[in-house]
Amino acid sequence: MAVTRTSLTGTQVPHPPRAEPGRVEGIRAYFEDRSDRWIRLTSGEEVSGVRARVRAGRARMATTLMGWVLGDEAAPHPDGLRVLDAGCGPGEVSVRLAARGARVTGVEVAPSLVATARERVEALGLTHRIDVMEGDASRAPGGPWDAALVMDVLFHYPPGEAADFLARMAPEVGSRIVFTVGPRTPLLAFLQRVGGLFPRSDRAPVLHLVRPRAFVESLLARPDMKGWTAGRSRRVSAPFYASHALEIVRTGLDGAGGADGADGPAAAPGAEGAP
Ligand SMILES: C[S@@+](CC[C@H](N)C(=O)[O-])C[C@H]1O[C@@H](n2cnc3c(N)ncnc32)[C@H](O)[C@@H]1O
Repeated sequence: MAVTRTSLTGTQVPHPPRAEPGRVEGIRAYFEDRSDRWIRLTSGEEVSGVRARVRAGRARMATTLMGWVLGDEAAPHPDGLRVLDAGCGPGEVSVRLAARGARVTGVEVAPSLVATARERVEALGLTHRIDVMEGDASRAPGGPWDAALVMDVLFHYPPGEAADFLARMAPEVGSRIVFTVGPRTPLLAFLQRVGGLFPRSDRAPVLHLVRPRAFVESLLARPDMKGWTAGRSRRVSAPFYASHALEIVRTGLDGAGGADGADGPAAAPGAEGAP
């Protein structure tokens, strides 16, 4: 019998399966092993060379995704907006979201990164605004959320599992999910084949690259994603960093009608405007 769960709108929706057994465990072990590098990369400490460029690219991506969730920096702060930061790592984006007024649940599978995220939250006096939980973010308890943000997580999953990840959280999300995928450009696909995509010490075991437009189209074609539509789309490319931001927006059960419109007009999938 298919597993179902009750969505925010009270209807029963199928519950997509977990990632392949061992996948999340492998990712946990990979990031646990390299937690010191992630902590440093996401800290204020000076880094040089490749890592400085990665950091600059990530900063642009974080600003893009946060802008989609919270609106323009100049706009009034959406006090208390409930945001899930799925795969929050050491909490860099969670604390930025909370500093702008959001109420954040960060979920992370690697224990050392969870510990660092909690330390940062404490040090910044943001414990009233952020809960950091250890576990599988696609099964995060504690919703519903107004929005979910999944930055630089899904490219560790094959496209079908990445779509399952999003579809599992969607019933708990009221307005939008913003996330990134690894864009399959001819250059990146070539670099990945020859092993030059990341510096050796930072290289993930497998990186799954997709065509962003095709990924969103196939995600939204799933029966369990009824009521969601494509939103904005933006590539962020910097030396040693390439990631593609996508947004999906809840429109209502019939799949027609407008989104809540808070963050401006939705673009057709594949409107891949470079920033
Ligand atoms: C590349 S890091 C990005 C961290 C953070 N989102 C950021 O951009 O600063 C990917 C993170 O996702 C976490 N992750 C991957 N799959 C996860 C899952 N199913 N549940 C929780 N965390 C996950 C990893 O442990 C890792 O910390």
